[in-house]
Amino acid sequence: MTTTGDETQRRGAFTSRKVFILAAIGSAVGLGNIWRFPYVAYENGGGAFLIPYLIALLTAGLPFLLLDYAIGHRHRGSAPLSFARLHRRTEMLGWWQVGICFLIAIYYAAVIAWALRYTIFSVDQSWGEDPEGFLFGDFLQAGDPGVSTEVVLGVLVPLLLVWVAVLVIMSLGVEKGVGRLSLYLIPVLVIAFGALVLRAVTLDGAALGLDALFSPHWASLTEPSVWAAAFGQIFFSLSIGFGIMITYASYVDRRSDMTGSGLVVGFANSGFELLAGIGVFAALGFMAQAQGVAVDEVATQGLGLAFVVFPALISEAPAGALIGVLFFGSLVIAGLTSLVSVIEVVISAVRDKFELSRLTASLAVGGPAAIISLVLFSTTSGVYVLDIVDHFINQYGILLVAVVSMLVVAWALRALPGLAAHLNRFGSLRLDRTWFALIGLLAPLALAYVLVDAFVTDLQ
Ligand code: PHE
Repeated sequence: MTTTGDETQRRGAFTSRKVFILAAIGSAVGLGNIWRFPYVAYENGGGAFLIPYLIALLTAGLPFLLLDYAIGHRHRGSAPLSFARLHRRTEMLGWWQVGICFLIAIYYAAVIAWALRYTIFSVDQSWGEDPEGFLFGDFLQAGDPGVSTEVVLGVLVPLLLVWVAVLVIMSLGVEKGVGRLSLYLIPVLVIAFGALVLRAVTLDGAALGLDALFSPHWASLTEPSVWAAAFGQIFFSLSIGFGIMITYASYVDRRSDMTGSGLVVGFANSGFELLAGIGVFAALGFMAQAQGVAVDEVATQGLGLAFVVFPALISEAPAGALIGVLFFGSLVIAGLTSLVSVIEVVISAVRDKFELSRLTASLAVGGPAAIISLVLFSTTSGVYVLDIVDHFINQYGILLVAVVSMLVVAWALRALPGLAAHLNRFGSLRLDRTWFALIGLLAPLALAYVLVDAFVTDLQ
């Protein structure tokens, strides 16, 4: 596929391979690394989970990441355009991903806004004795009629701030917006989170938590659902199948070593995930000891972990305010660099399709997303919508398009050899038959199994 220098200039580009790698890490390292991985590992065999997890990374995660890279880097377009250039009938796969990204942005922004507010709450532990009552009562009921404007402002102002920041970043473009954001914020995230983990592992009782997380339950290796959890976590965590990596790869210089970059991104993401496991469970160990209960009683994930258990822990721990600022600050940064990546998928697609300027497209996409997000999350029902939408998108929406795209590319289009040849030209890794087999057979089978497993669990 030929594209001109003009087109590169029109679409935007990452200034260097380093910036691309940081942006891709920024997308991959998100809320899921911090609040999802630790609990998934704990629930699915503890230390033994690392085996299926590593296998999932090597046999499906990395190969599929490289497929995304190959499609975007070779065809130099947003997800729909790259798919259309692969074959005109596959364009809709890209639009499916665009739709999912738009939905994710709406609630991801809300969670970041809450984390932003909680960073400030941490300073004086505004949640008092009852963080759960505070979250659902005082904090999230902001939009209920009759509640003071002060409370409305508490939720809506941070959300508005997040959207304004996002709109500014998106309008600045790939190089000055997304690129610079990642270049500056990823190092800050690593330092802040590293400091948090250091603090956590030196708390009393930390060993209790680490023991709970890492004690291997070997028997769980024979349970299919444990393997499904490993593959599911890897896919979600690497942000693959969302069109994100296709989009980002389309902004990378043609001569770049994409396979080498993929390895860096994949291992950096998993490294961060492990670090998060250590930090979160060390903190949970402290909490369990302080309350005189088993770690199991305090271990949880998602909103409950971040906005109920952590606040309680912050109130209890020595120098809790510092822990709070580091923890919620990390959530904000990790979330923001993922949020811009999903929005970029939509903006890039709209620009390619309708030939809009960067600014027009940013407003056309970000404006409605911001308005929906603000309206939805000014009422308490936002939280419930979030739960349901999140579940369906992650369990079904993404896995379905991932399986279909792999099978179509491998079997219907027989496009893998061409894509491999493209990556092999400047890549440090040689993709050959093993890659074809993983993409055409093993990864789709594993994912189809994850889908079935999720479905069966939902039915129960
Ligand atoms: N990879 C992100 C995480 O682990 C999640 C994410 C997926 C974010 C898709 C955006 C889009 O948290």
